[in-house]
Amino acid sequence: MQQNTCFRKADLEKGLKDHAVLEQLGIRTARVSDVDQLLSLINDCDASEVMLPRGPKYLFENIRDFVVVEAETTAGQRRIVACGSLHVLWKNIAEIRSLSIDPEYQRQGLGSKIVLHLIEDARQIGINMVCTFTMATHFFEKLGFSLKEKEELPSKVFGECNNCPKYFRCNETGLIIDCSEHRE
Ligand SMILES: CC(C)(COP(=O)(O)OP(=O)(O)OC[C@H]1O[C@@H](n2cnc3c(N)ncnc32)[C@H](O)[C@@H]1OP(=O)(O)O)[C@@H](O)C(=O)NCCC(=O)NCCS
Repeated sequence: MQQNTCFRKADLEKGLKDHAVLEQLGIRTARVSDVDQLLSLINDCDASEVMLPRGPKYLFENIRDFVVVEAETTAGQRRIVACGSLHVLWKNIAEIRSLSIDPEYQRQGLGSKIVLHLIEDARQIGINMVCTFTMATHFFEKLGFSLKEKEELPSKVFGECNNCPKYFRCNETGLIIDCSEHRE
């Protein structure tokens, strides 16, 4: 079995500082009025091929799990350009779900920033382990997550598989990070 990697927030944040967009755009908790835009961000574009689709019922019921990043359009309106959520599964484990960055804003550090924020959220409520299921394996490994064989993951993490259209042809990889250590 692979050792779990540990979360070193300060080290990872150092790597984010080069991206100018991160200085301008902050993360905030999601509101019910965001659901319409969240539906598009999660279900449209390239995200729809790589993520579990989400409907309004799921989003309203789980809105407290979500954080978003807003940007201002040229017309002066605010629009959500990134989102992610942390869903508590059991007393010691939570899952990062529905992480999606608008294609126009990808590769500028927003995804990393949201993941670090969600890990910090998990730590604040006493969660030791954060897992995710994804095709963006390299992205999560770069943030300190380690790959896990499905048999190595606790059974609690498979609850969402029953809602997945790819149940019989699953191509996602499970990754996990131990966030109990290196508390600052
Ligand atoms: C995967 C995703 C969340 C990454 O967010 P992002 O803001 O673009 O990522 P970051 O800018 O923080 O990237 C950090 C590093 O991760 C790696 N990375 C990011 N996106 C990658 C991709 N699509 N393929 C391979 N590596 C990637 C890169 O090494 C990157 O560093 P670099 O740009 O200096 O090379 C985003 O591309 C996305 O929303 N994709 C569609 C939905 C999805 O796959 N969600 C994850 C499943 S839950």
